[in-house]
Formats: sequence, structure tokens, C-alpha cells
Amino acid sequence: TILILDFGSQYSHLITRRCRELNVYAELMPCTQRIKDLRWKPKGIILSGSPYSVYDSDAPHVDPEVFEMDVPVLGICYGLQEMAWKMEGKVAQCDHREYGFAKVQVSKINGSNSSVDALFDGLGEEMEVWMSHGDQLSELPANFHIIGRTKTAPYAAIAHNSKPFYGIQFHPEVSHSPRGKEVIGRFVLNICGCRTNWTMEEFIGKEIARIREVCGPKGRVIGAVSGGVDSSVAAKLMHEAIGERFHAIMVDNGVLRLNEAQQVNEMLNKDLGVNLTVVDASELFLSRLAGVEDPEQKRKIIGNTFINVFEEQATKIEAEAEKEEELAASTEKKGKIEWLLQGTLYPDVIESISFKGPSATIKTHHNVGGLLKDMKLKLIEPLRELFKDEVRALGRLLGIPEPLVQRHPFPGPGLAIRILGPVTREQVKILQQADNIYIEEIRNAGLYNQISQAFAVLLPIKAVGVMGDKRTYEQVIALRAVQSEDFMTADWFVFPADVLRRISSRITNEVAGINRVTYDISSKPPATVEWL
Ligand code: XMP
Repeated sequence: TILILDFGSQYSHLITRRCRELNVYAELMPCTQRIKDLRWKPKGIILSGSPYSVYDSDAPHVDPEVFEMDVPVLGICYGLQEMAWKMEGKVAQCDHREYGFAKVQVSKINGSNSSVDALFDGLGEEMEVWMSHGDQLSELPANFHIIGRTKTAPYAAIAHNSKPFYGIQFHPEVSHSPRGKEVIGRFVLNICGCRTNWTMEEFIGKEIARIREVCGPKGRVIGAVSGGVDSSVAAKLMHEAIGERFHAIMVDNGVLRLNEAQQVNEMLNKDLGVNLTVVDASELFLSRLAGVEDPEQKRKIIGNTFINVFEEQATKIEAEAEKEEELAASTEKKGKIEWLLQGTLYPDVIESISFKGPSATIKTHHNVGGLLKDMKLKLIEPLRELFKDEVRALGRLLGIPEPLVQRHPFPGPGLAIRILGPVTREQVKILQQADNIYIEEIRNAGLYNQISQAFAVLLPIKAVGVMGDKRTYEQVIALRAVQSEDFMTADWFVFPADVLRRISSRITNEVAGINRVTYDISSKPPATVEWL
């Protein structure tokens, strides 16, 4: 395992990703992590970048023990400066903040013709890299030598003379450093000697064993499924581990996509064998949503109602189990529901481990908060070590069909935040049909996997049109499709004109009540992905 200590750079999680892509398990921890509190010994340590300057009075610093434990250390950007600073090197502000591409000249060792440092072994004499820093090393620390330089940074890459300590000013973890992943590979594979045993096949086996151990021979687990990738994969994994002792609950809140509850039931329950109950609570949700236009109000109502319905269902399951228990011989006693499954992913975990304390940006919809208090359920989070693409790989191995594995994200409040006015059954039906046609045509055109998220929005206005010889006065559908890495920023997708034409023509012809279709060409920022 590689330990990555995070000093708050926006790229820290990418270092973790790159290691894992090399099949080496890596874990990100806050830079304030004390080495003596670690429960495992890393094979190598990587120090991340940071928005701070090592001389700032509130700058984060690493446990000095890191350099005493006899494992290789790689400092990236701030990590390099921190390492040098600890070794009494000098760091100074650059004349110009350096941001963008640079060329690293790889240094030959001791004037030799061919030999270069192990960190850059076989990567050529010159490497294009991405720089993003305001400080740089102005003096080499004692017992270090230069292994790479750029025009403006004489100490762009350094190594200790006798210990496996390395520092690089550039960011090998970003895709703008084309050979960056190989540099990380040289470090974790060749220098640290990590084994390449982080694969999804290994993960499944270990995680199933862990779940069985945690839940014991009788413990039971409940969890919500939504029709999205994460909850489906988590549910299938739980089913593999403890079979019928896992109960999945899907709440039909009346603002799902067309036939969604039915499709999830077919797939998870019929095809994959997961113990699933679909609760149709659409009446309750829609009655509570009646007349509400404010988006935050809609979110709150849906969130709270979800908790009510889920709790009620969980209590029912519990009561049924107790009845069974009474009937069964005492040796076959079923356990109580002790656990709540959550599909938490690694990015959520990372967000909450920052050295600055838990981030305030964690969204409330990640928690089913109220439940835990009343039912005293403990959380079980089998995906908490995984990135999204790892969850997809896991889903494929568990036999989850490709269209679901690749499915675009769908917000918890569903179509309620895509109907800009009040939510009624009629409006939901119109939007479901339009959305379904849109997604169908995107799939037919083979574009679905190039788009990060696509959906239709029902606008709260009417426009004039003409059909046959008659004037119409009907509603408008807006189409949205974006490409995005992380949904923090997003750009609108450029469709071929004929695809848009087909979608528009089908929606206006097939969906009663719509006579006009527009395409949203706003990026995020300044717009957001959703309209509400
Ligand atoms: P925005 O609109 O904030 O969307 O640019 C970014 C991503 O977040 C999703 N989103 C939500 N997901 N509950 C959710 O579960 C919500 O209330 C919510 N609002 C936005 C959105 O679909 C996009 O993927």
C-alpha cells in the first residue's frame, strides 16, 4: 500500500487514482496523520501539492517520522518543498507564478552517458510536464542532487544521495503530464517495490469476506436502491455476501424516469436475485409536493418523505422477521436488522478527511440521517474505497448489465427539479415521455457514453405553434446534455444536427402537450447542470 498524505491540493485524489490504475492500492490521508497511529506500514509515501507556502504561519506540515521510517518518499510540488524545508533546504517565491506546460531535462548521473535516476529510468531525456506553483526550491538541501531541471526551475526534480527520497516540482498525476503516470509507476513499482494486486477480482473476494465477518452469521442489512450504478452495485455485492439477509428497498417517489421502478425490479430482483421490495409511495410524494415551486422546498419534501417511507418499510421488514423468528425453532433464529447499507464512494470519503476538518460541502442527500438515530442502525459502506470507474468495473464483474453500469447520474429529487413549475402527475408524465425519447435517440445515435449526463426539462411557459391548420398553445421542453469530469464544471455537448432534428420531431409529434423543443447551450459555470 502507498500512503498519500494530502496537503490540500486539488489534484491529491488523482495521485491515488494513478496508483490504483497501476493496480497498486493507495490510500489518501490528511497530512496531519501521525505515523505512530497508522495501523499498517506503507511501502512508500507520497506527499501531495498544496495551496499553501511552506513558510506560511498556518502551513500544514508532515510528521517528521515520515523520513525516519525507512520507506521511500516522493514529494510532489509542495511535497518537494516540504521535504526540502524539513531537510533545511531553501524555498522561495518565484518571480512569476508558473502555471502550464514545461519541459524537464532529465539529468545524467555522475556525467554518465546513459544512466539516469530510477525515478526517470527509460523515460527519455526530455519530458513534457504540467507545472502549477508559486514557490520553488532556491537552494538544494544537503545530501540531495538534481535529477531534472527546466528553463525556470533548476531544481525541478531532486533525489537524496543515499536514501530513497525524491522531490518533483511538476504534477505527474494530471493528464497534462503525458508520462506522469510512468513516473509514478517508477516510484511505486520499481522504487517502493509494491505488488500489483489491486484488482476488482481481488477486491470482490476480500470485500465479501469482510462483509460476512462484520455482519456475523445472522446480522441483517437494509439498504435503499435508486436505479443508479452505485446503489445497484452495492446491493448486488451485499446479496453475494449475505444473500437473503440483505433487504433492498426501492421507493417509487412518483418522480422517477419512465418505468424506472419496474425496470429496477426486473433487473435487481428477477435477474440478479436481490431481495428487493418496491414501495409505490408516489401518491404520498405527489400530494406533499402539490403546489410547491421552490426547488429547495421540493428537495426537502422529497428527502423527508423518503426517510418516512423507508423507515416504515424497514419497520415492516423487522416485524415480519420477528414473527418468523417466533415460528422458527430457536436454533434458526434470524438476527435483527443492525446495518444500513450506504453506497458511499471514495470521493465522498476524501471530502470528509481533509486536514482542515470535514468539508462543509458534503451534500445532505448522501445521508439518510434520521434513520440512524431511531433504529440505531450502523452504517455498512462496501464501496467506500472505490472511485466511480472502479464501481463500474465491479458492477460488470458482478453481472450487472452494461446499460446500467454506464448509466448517467440521476438526482435524488428526480424529475421534481426538472419540472420548473408545480409538480403534478400530468406534468411528470409529459416529462417522462420526452426524457425517454431523448435518451432513446441518444442511445440510437451511439452517443450515450460520450455524454456525462443528459435529460429533458419541462419549462413553465406556453408557446404558440401550429399543427395541421390549427393554432396550438402548449408547453416547451428544454434538452440538456453535458460533458464533465467531476460535475464541478461542465460543458454542453455538441450534437450532430440530424440527431437534434430527430429528437425534436419525435418529441413534438409523440408527446401530447409539447409543441416546441429547445437545446440548452450553457456551460457550468455560470449555469449549473440542473435547471433548479
Ligand atoms: P448541478 O446542478 O449542481 O449538478 O450543477 C451537479 C450534479 O449533481 C446532481 N444534483 C443532485 N443530485 N440531489 C442529487 O442527488 C440533488 O438535489 C441534486 N442537485 C443536482 C446533478 O444531477 C449533477 O449530476
